[in-house]
Amino acid sequence: MTRHATGIPVEDLTPDQAAAELAWLAEQIRRHDRLYHQDAAPEISDADYDALRRRNEAIEARFGGLVRPDSPSARVGAAPATGFAKVRHKVPMLSLGNAFDAGDVAEFLARIRRFLGLGETDDLAVMAEPKIDGVSASLRYERGRFVRGATRGDGSTGEDITANLRTIADLPVTLPVNVPGGVPGGVPGGVPEVLEVRGEVYMRRDEFRKLNARQEAAGDKVFANPRNAAAGSLRQLDATVTAGRPLHFFAYAWGEVAAPLGATMEEARARLAGWGFALNEPARLCRSLKELLAYHEEVMAERPALPYDIDGVVYKVDRLDWQERLGFVSRAPRWAVAHKFPAEQARTVLNAIEIQVGRTGALTPVARLEPITVGGVVVSNATLHNEDEIARKDVRVGDTVIVQRAGDVIPQVVEVVKDKRPKGAKAYRFPKICPCSLKTPVAREPGEAVSRCTGELACPFQQIEKLIHFVSRDAFDIEGLGGKQIEAFWRDRLIRAPGDIFRLRDRGEEIATREGWGELSAGNLMRAIEARRDIGLDRFIYALGIRQIGQATAKLLARQYATLEAWHAAMAQAAKERGGARAARKPAEVGEAFAELCNIHGIGMSMADDIAAFFDEPHNLAVIEDLEGQVRIQAVAAPAAESPVAGKTVVFTGSLETMTRSEAKARAEALGAKVAGSVSKKTDYVVVGADAGSKARKAAELGVATLSEPDWLALIGRT
Ligand code: IVH
Repeated sequence: MTRHATGIPVEDLTPDQAAAELAWLAEQIRRHDRLYHQDAAPEISDADYDALRRRNEAIEARFGGLVRPDSPSARVGAAPATGFAKVRHKVPMLSLGNAFDAGDVAEFLARIRRFLGLGETDDLAVMAEPKIDGVSASLRYERGRFVRGATRGDGSTGEDITANLRTIADLPVTLPVNVPGGVPGGVPGGVPEVLEVRGEVYMRRDEFRKLNARQEAAGDKVFANPRNAAAGSLRQLDATVTAGRPLHFFAYAWGEVAAPLGATMEEARARLAGWGFALNEPARLCRSLKELLAYHEEVMAERPALPYDIDGVVYKVDRLDWQERLGFVSRAPRWAVAHKFPAEQARTVLNAIEIQVGRTGALTPVARLEPITVGGVVVSNATLHNEDEIARKDVRVGDTVIVQRAGDVIPQVVEVVKDKRPKGAKAYRFPKICPCSLKTPVAREPGEAVSRCTGELACPFQQIEKLIHFVSRDAFDIEGLGGKQIEAFWRDRLIRAPGDIFRLRDRGEEIATREGWGELSAGNLMRAIEARRDIGLDRFIYALGIRQIGQATAKLLARQYATLEAWHAAMAQAAKERGGARAARKPAEVGEAFAELCNIHGIGMSMADDIAAFFDEPHNLAVIEDLEGQVRIQAVAAPAAESPVAGKTVVFTGSLETMTRSEAKARAEALGAKVAGSVSKKTDYVVVGADAGSKARKAAELGVATLSEPDWLALIGRT
């Protein structure tokens, strides 16, 4: 048995002894993690391994100041595999709007000019960079030390992947202080006190191919493309696995910073490069639409020769004060846009058409292809969507087809090369019977493109797909329970309904003896499941897999009804009213519960109908009731303190000094205010600029509060 270094009771350790032992433990645990996860050749028992971790924890609990930066407890390691901690982004991590052609780019520039009130000839410099197809991450440095790294998550909350990011070689762990170009207000001569660098974690194409070859040889999962490989490698609960993966990082933006990185993108880029970050190259400062389009062309021509995947270029307004003024709409900045490249295409032979059955019973035809490299990635399957698509493109087995791959979208069959069709190739006949073991008839509703298995929940394919959805990342997010495991557990009757997952706790020992499982992995799974017994209502709703109800709609429902009890009761009522609703086809004439559902902004009649239909099925109600006995569903918290102008109606009149009218309107709306064009009794504030005319008078007549521009800025907390 492996013994810890000193054997001295924790209470009796001196700080020096404790520090020495923590160093020894960190090394030992790292070594055993590697032996277990990478070499699959553990040298000690699970119990001994756990003892090492417990000893480490106990010493750390007593000597908080001695916790090492490489401490095993900081790594979300193999033992307490309860998922990643959440990290709230102080500055949200945005995504980008897309431009597909010159017209879209021209409109992007025109919108910026309008918003900022720039004339046609005023200088507008835009920084152009390649758009790397990877996974975004945010790295937080405090006084030049890397303290935390997070995924984007939903943009406001990501996952703490500090330990995983630390393993990336081209990511600086400490930033040089006293470098030329240090910023005022920062650590002397160096980086700001707080610096969040944002960028993309990616894998090179050659490394991706090698990794897949290794994975395949070891019987492990192979990845569809470099982006998925990077994402999968980064989301490892055990950072030693990430360490074995070839990941890189490009910096392209920043979040919270204690001091500005410069006045322009160009300056900020120079600073980041000076601090040791790799940047997306080639970047170019462009001053016209023509220059931007020329840059797009050049980078596109270089694309096949680049060692990594790019899916377009990004244009960003160079002046950072303008970026600030431009702000963002929903989740994308007004000051940046992604100019996408067309999807990469290739030719190959279609060997077979197979049918997959999804969780709603939808039958999706899939093309099995002669493997072909499309943009550096081997493609052997492509979606054919549905019966009509096959007919429209007249795809036949044996055909030579053009396939394309666009970002993380499943490859598609674009068209058939008709003059290559082999003689005697027969038109494809879509199956009338589901390939599931029930052999139930396939139904296609009038006006619908999708054919479905009519076996409903009795269809094994649907059961399995529903369960896979239930444990997926945006639903219950149970680490260690993926498609392969669900299928095997389903087959062996360990899991047949969602509630069964939470009853596995009594069967840990049995699972540990299954092929491919051991005590450690079974223990990890049990912990991962236990960690999900508490779940937010929005995730719970999404996990149910109701037709048309994605994450966004699930959030809307959770916000509207707040608790499971309220939602359940309202939906049961809506289900009763549904008959009437179907006849009326209008929310106004149906019962109250159904009308409330339809009136939620973002939920229409058809979605409401699907939700109500779900609650009309006794087997669905049984699933919910079963789960209620297993999990605790958290009510949705009330929204955070609102802005002082939320819900107020505001009118802007006269010319403003610090911003254009559209800028003022956008900012007010972002704070929850309604902006109106004319003054009435319902107006709360009239913001009066220079040379205001009749609207200011009207406000005075009606006794509506008038504010000067500085008053308004003070009210919304900006000066
Ligand atoms: S700027 C506030 N620049 O593309 C906007 N993003 O599709 C920050 N990406 O979320 C993004 N290369 O993950 C920017 N040169 C680049 C990029 C880039 C890749 C990613 C990033 C972003 C996504 C949007």
